[in-house]
Amino acid sequence: MRLLVIGGTSFVGRTIVGDALGRGHEITTFNRGLTGKDIDGVEALRGDRSTDEGVQLLAGRSFDAVIDPGGQVPAHVLRTAQAMADSAPFYAFVSTTAVYQAWNTASLDESAATWPGVPDQDGDPADLEKLRVHKRGCELAVEQTYGLDAGLVARAGSIVGPHDNLGQLPWWLTRIAEGGRMIAPGDPGRGLQLIDVRDLSAFVLDQVEAQAGGIHNVVPDGPNTTMGRLLGDCVQATGSDADPVWVDEGFLLSQGVLPWAELPLWIPDVPDTAGFWAVSGASAKAAGLRTRPFGDSVRDTWQWLRSGGEVRTAPGVPPLGLAGEKEQQVLAAWDARLSEGS
Ligand SMILES: NC(=O)c1ccc[n+]([C@@H]2O[C@H](COP(=O)([O-])OP(=O)(O)OC[C@H]3O[C@@H](n4cnc5c(N)ncnc54)[C@H](OP(=O)(O)O)[C@@H]3O)[C@@H](O)[C@H]2O)c1
Repeated sequence: MRLLVIGGTSFVGRTIVGDALGRGHEITTFNRGLTGKDIDGVEALRGDRSTDEGVQLLAGRSFDAVIDPGGQVPAHVLRTAQAMADSAPFYAFVSTTAVYQAWNTASLDESAATWPGVPDQDGDPADLEKLRVHKRGCELAVEQTYGLDAGLVARAGSIVGPHDNLGQLPWWLTRIAEGGRMIAPGDPGRGLQLIDVRDLSAFVLDQVEAQAGGIHNVVPDGPNTTMGRLLGDCVQATGSDADPVWVDEGFLLSQGVLPWAELPLWIPDVPDTAGFWAVSGASAKAAGLRTRPFGDSVRDTWQWLRSGGEVRTAPGVPPLGLAGEKEQQVLAAWDARLSEGS
């Protein structure tokens, strides 16, 4: 197939481009040339989708499908979809499960209520406060232009794997590789639901090849690891002597340790966030999503880091991770608490 990938040089888009080339498709990418290098073998077009002039470069070109993995501003997605509507019969958009209003509080499927996005809303992609509303607006831009027969909305959960551009699993791998006593947050049995970027990519490409539209949560259908297994896989992958100390999550919160931001992928099992890892992946599974063992994601992400891979976050994305000094202070306070109790 002849495929147009908008972006394609960071994480999800980059993986899709690599996989699509591997499947024998002809790929044209469209980006500004700012974020990263295009993969060898593509035709690279330089343009900016935030302006009408920018997308004029696409006029008169036809493709079998457009894949839009990184759109974050509705007006940009609408502009791209409108520019291609007569010259590409299918449009695939990578969205997020954060579009659900109850994404962190209740088990939900694709019928759950979403934030009220607006398909022609303009904005700044770096304004992450608006991301969930904007992503819904982007979905509506695709739906308005292509409909859901010729439009795919792939709502990804938290994504892991090589070329990660948020850095959550890479932070744990790097911290564990440093070794020594370290905080392991909460309950080792707490389930997590993480999708490997290569499984997301394969799913998107399968749907594009079949020209199968619709909305799917692209997550494993149920937890595919636990906090304990995640840390154990990181220890194994890195060959580290790290000594994870499981610290009660109420204690961590009382010490001002921030879930997610300071200890990535840690979402406390409290009423406000208990449902965070409980998104249904049943419809994607029925449509063909296959998910690899989570340990493979850990191993391959570590290999990528070891071979010089660096997490390059997009503008506006705050740095992740717990400072070493704070970690040791909290561990000392936890030791003191345990010795008081004994
Ligand atoms: N990471 C997660 O856990 C997670 C979870 C759920 C959903 N998601 C979604 O997954 C997607 C990940 O996307 P990605 O960053 O990996 O995609 P990507 O396609 O690999 O990278 C983003 C691309 O967009 C291009 N771009 C940015 N602004 C542009 C503009 N104005 N005009 C043309 N091109 C532009 C960038 O290149 P230039 O800068 O060179 O133009 C870059 O190539 C995001 O939409 C995110 O919301 C992520």
